[in-house]
Amino acid sequence: FLPKKKKQKDSLINLKIQKENPKVVNEIDIEDLKSTNVCYCRCWRSKTFPVCDKSHIKHNELTGDNVGPLILKKKIL
Ligand code: FES
Repeated sequence: FLPKKKKQKDSLINLKIQKENPKVVNEIDIEDLKSTNVCYCRCWRSKTFPVCDKSHIKHNELTGDNVGPLILKKKIL
């Protein structure tokens, strides 16, 4: 018999993105990338999630965190 899992509200990473879903998953087809550099949010604060809108800068200032985007680069051949 295992004890019930405690919910740790203070440790939530995702505060408001797609909270109606049990899991937030984004799929990006690499063939659809239009520009040479696309930045994807890893701080969960972007208002354009999953694309980075630079909200990580304010988040890092407020919290002392050091998070930043995932940058996908497309080579032009
Ligand atoms: Fe989240 Fe930039 S806004 S990583």
